[in-house]
Order: sequence, then structure tokens, then C-alpha cells
Amino acid sequence: MVRTANAFNVSFVHIVGKRDWNRRGAMVTDKYLHVVHHPTVADFAIWCRENKTPIIGIDNLPVSVQLENYPLPEKCVLFFGQEGAGMSDEAVDICEVVLAIQQYGSTRSMNASAAGAIAMYAWAMQHLNPRLPQ
Ligand SMILES: C[S@@+](CC[C@H](N)C(=O)[O-])C[C@H]1O[C@@H](n2cnc3c(N)ncnc32)[C@H](O)[C@@H]1O
Repeated sequence: MVRTANAFNVSFVHIVGKRDWNRRGAMVTDKYLHVVHHPTVADFAIWCRENKTPIIGIDNLPVSVQLENYPLPEKCVLFFGQEGAGMSDEAVDICEVVLAIQQYGSTRSMNASAAGAIAMYAWAMQHLNPRLPQ
């Protein structure tokens, strides 16, 4: 996820919860963005409010709307759930909206890293691609 964030010129990656993360997969890309830890969802919500950053949840929940047609704000944080459990109710509550990536096969969901790449690409298509009408 951190390596993908670097590929899309993301400035911050937030890790919510008490667990640390495995840096190996980042291939040192974490040196080029800010990694901020928040012990709880409430702490993360405070950071986002203080930094005027809307929280956009990414999960395939009954409350979700489709990512593919959604106009993403230029300044926002994309908030992903954990493998297995997905986003908690508390996490959903702090989101402006929760967006689902359309799937076509039989699996219920993708892994968070794959979903992260798709969501960041969707954001980049709206804000970093000068050839597309805004
Ligand atoms: C393995 S999924 C687990 C939860 C998922 N709600 C489920 O029903 O299985 C881990 C995370 O990947 C992201 N994710 C996976 N598939 C997604 C999809 N189709 N749309 C949006 N997010 C997805 C979400 O952030 C989710 O919390």
C-alpha cells in the first residue's frame, strides 16, 4: 500500500491502530512520504478534522456507493479496512462516504492492497491526468 501510495504521489499514509506495519514491501518508498500512526479511529478523525481533510471510506458495504462514478475531492484521505474484518462501524461513521469498487467475479472482496491501487488510480485519473476533462 505504501509503495503504491508513493507511485501516485500521495503525501501521507496513516496507520490506524496499535499494530506496526511491515516495511519490507514498501521497498524504501516510505522515505518519500509521511507515515503517521494513530492509535485509534478517534485520533485519526481528529487529525483529519484539524487538517481539513475529508475521509473517503473504501469498502464494499451495504452503505457503499460506486467508486467508478464518484467525484473524489482533490484533497482527501482514502480509508481502507483491514483484511478479513473490513471497516469497523466506528471507521464507517467518520467517513464522508464509503465507496465500493465494482467486482464481476465470485469472490466477495479483493485484498486491501489491490483495492488501494485501484482507488488511488481512480483518484489519479480525476486529479493527476491532464488529458481528461475535469
Ligand atoms: C479483504 S477486504 C475485507 C472486507 C470486505 N468488506 C469483505 O466483504 O470481505 C479488505 C479491505 O480491502 C478493501 N476492499 C476489498 N474489496 C473491495 C471492493 N470491492 N470495494 C472497495 N474496497 C474493497 C476494503 O478497504 C476492505 O476493508
